[in-house]
Amino acid sequence: MTASDDSQRDLIAALDFHVAAGVDLMLDEHPHDRFSEVEAPAHPAAPTPEPEIAAPPPRRELPQRGETPAPARTYGQSAAARPGEAAGDARARAKDVNSLEELEALLAGFDGCPLKFTAKNLVFADGNPAAKLMFIGEAPGADEDRIGKPFMGRSGKLLDRMMAAIGLDRTTAYVTNIVPWRPPGNRNPTPQEVAICKPFIERQIELADPDLIVCLGSPSTQAITGTRDGILKARGRFYPYRVGDREIRALATLHPAYLLRQPLQKRLAWRDFRTLRAALDGKV
Ligand code: URA
Repeated sequence: MTASDDSQRDLIAALDFHVAAGVDLMLDEHPHDRFSEVEAPAHPAAPTPEPEIAAPPPRRELPQRGETPAPARTYGQSAAARPGEAAGDARARAKDVNSLEELEALLAGFDGCPLKFTAKNLVFADGNPAAKLMFIGEAPGADEDRIGKPFMGRSGKLLDRMMAAIGLDRTTAYVTNIVPWRPPGNRNPTPQEVAICKPFIERQIELADPDLIVCLGSPSTQAITGTRDGILKARGRFYPYRVGDREIRALATLHPAYLLRQPLQKRLAWRDFRTLRAALDGKV
């Protein structure tokens, strides 16, 4: 037995552990500790007291020509160190809005999610809010952040083609994300960011009042249905979802961005879209 046999066994054991823990795809070459990213104080040597959650956000001043921009240290970023409070605040505020327009305005003024401060635009929704079908993705990417609408880039084009294949388009579906601001560098939103934004997507679902939800990808599926299963296990399944006093269904499927990286998996997504068509036709 050699040292390299040992390290190979260790690597296989580590891989088995991750598979058993539900990790079913790799996003990056190196791991990131998201918890330390959001919890690290701005200046570890001299931590400044955190403002209260309800305090007004300091304005971000535009730098003058030739001046080095000051690092954006905002209420939103310090709120990230206390995501539970920010999520509670989000929940209390989301309850008070009574239309999708009010919800969008509320989000535009909400400073409790740190992603707002690195994003260019709020990405609220696209498509038909009166549609009975609602697609929910993960978070905006660069194109969506620039344009201010969800699923505008390559994944959006693929989503449009998948919808067209079963006779749908953005006049017959409403499209949004669990997180309405782009995470920097297109990283996944952290669990804290998802938790802060969750009351808003839940209220958005209540106000749009669809008959059927399609969760695109694992973060959306887990946030909406509560399952901890990885997407390859969850896909193709209907999960119950309560909207007010109605129980509707949420169908999990693969995210178009994943399909762009793994085109062979489109056959699985195609199966799910046929299930979706059957559900819309009242056949399943
Ligand atoms: N991926 C998403 O999950 N949502 C978008 O809006 C774009 C890409």
